[in-house]
Amino acid sequence: MVSLLENPLRVGLQQQRMPEPQIITIFGASGDLTWRKLVPALYKLRQERRIPPEITIVGVARRDWSHEYFREQMRKGMEEAHGGVGAEELWQDFSQGLFYSSGDMDKPETYQKLNKLLSELDEKRGTRGNRMFYLSVAPNFFPEAIKQLGSQGMLEDPDKHRLVIEKPFGRDLASAQSLNRVVQKYCKEQQVYRIDHYLGKETVQNLLVFRFANAIFEPLWNRQFVDHVQITVAETVGVEDRAGYYESSGALRDMLQNHLMQLFCMSAIEPPNSLDAESIRTEKVKVLQATRLADVQNLHRSAVRGQYNAGWMKGKPVPGYHEEPGVAANSTTPTYVAVKFLVDNWRWQGVPFYLRTGKRMPKKVSEISIHFREVPSRMFPSAAQQMAGNILAMRIQPNEGISLRFEVKMPGAAFRTRSVDMDFTYGSFGIQATSDAYDRLFLDCMMGDQTLFTRADEVEAAWRVVTPILSVWDTPSDPASVPRYEAGTWEPAEAELLINQDGRRWRRL
Ligand code: BG6
Repeated sequence: MVSLLENPLRVGLQQQRMPEPQIITIFGASGDLTWRKLVPALYKLRQERRIPPEITIVGVARRDWSHEYFREQMRKGMEEAHGGVGAEELWQDFSQGLFYSSGDMDKPETYQKLNKLLSELDEKRGTRGNRMFYLSVAPNFFPEAIKQLGSQGMLEDPDKHRLVIEKPFGRDLASAQSLNRVVQKYCKEQQVYRIDHYLGKETVQNLLVFRFANAIFEPLWNRQFVDHVQITVAETVGVEDRAGYYESSGALRDMLQNHLMQLFCMSAIEPPNSLDAESIRTEKVKVLQATRLADVQNLHRSAVRGQYNAGWMKGKPVPGYHEEPGVAANSTTPTYVAVKFLVDNWRWQGVPFYLRTGKRMPKKVSEISIHFREVPSRMFPSAAQQMAGNILAMRIQPNEGISLRFEVKMPGAAFRTRSVDMDFTYGSFGIQATSDAYDRLFLDCMMGDQTLFTRADEVEAAWRVVTPILSVWDTPSDPASVPRYEAGTWEPAEAELLINQDGRRWRRL
């Protein structure tokens, strides 16, 4: 028997590896992501001795900072977002590998100056010409940065130079294709790492293990046994100070096209031939190519948007989306979106996938639930009005785990049934299941493992599925036509209808 998950020859998803010394250049180094997530993730890897001490980080941004000031900022970030730096000696050593180079993204001098610094650091820190360029800048700078890096010859060695691109990769199919063309002009696909941090989450990777390392679920994982699938990513945070980015993005572009589509792919793909990057990514492309909106002619039957009104969160009043700083008075940008997909292949024909995501929901919770078909004949009365049916729920975050709902007999003379959950939680391992995911993604990129990154055709296939929605929602419309929900409550009524029209309900989480 061939085991996909244990074969050490398969390079994808390996554990305990040590990458070569290298320089990681972060463009957009004065932004939040750098101090909140990126540098802390690299420091965590260093604390865990999973990267060599030569690893060097160069921050690039417009502000005129010194190396020392950059180090101080990163330390402040560690204190604010992660409660401190731990062992002082280790931080001192790590921070000596932090450098800063200022400049405008569109000026060749920025890259010339950077290139010179990188060569000096290669000498000084023994990084052997290995380079990762991480684009954590506003997406409109991506093409220019790639062009400049390419023209300066900084991407020319496919074995030593890697390019990491944060999301969003394009804002629709056409812009993603055009960005892919720029990337392909200067890089080989093997050098390109399109980030979707959801793929770095333990519980998302566990979907592969759960599905393909257990023989009992796979026979049930199809149209014969599954009634429908729900994927929910609910957040309690609002848009707050991010309107500058969010106004031109919204829930569909910010969350659904990438994070939720990845969860969808992992739940729906066919078993890959092996766990290497190409096999898994090819299966994802295949499932995306078979996916479509349930009813494009009547868009409201397959996609619903919403915006939050003012409301209450944890006993405190919070403003509505339109009152957030930087949001246009006539904004129609969705903070909530729900869609219904169908997958035209042998496994899933006729099984709807309902996906929803929103900000200012009552709870932070991400979950995939597989709802199995009902029993063919109801022999037993249920304690509830209706039997809930069997549900397999995979909780991505928080309280990471898996639960299976089934019916049992209530004690007593009568044959009354009641739904119970059999629960596994990651907490029972006694270790934290999730990290911010960036550590895992950095490590994979340093090792040249692209499994958890999105391939060019995959990102385009995902955009193709949502394009019919964008072409309607991007046309200027009356803000009053956008359904509303109160902050701190679940979806707008229209989104209830999206699923109720099929005789189903959103799972209450
Ligand atoms: C980001 C989005 O990609 O993911 C944010 O831009 C969102 O709007 C975040 O809040 C959610 O990530 P997580 O890991 O907290 O679920």
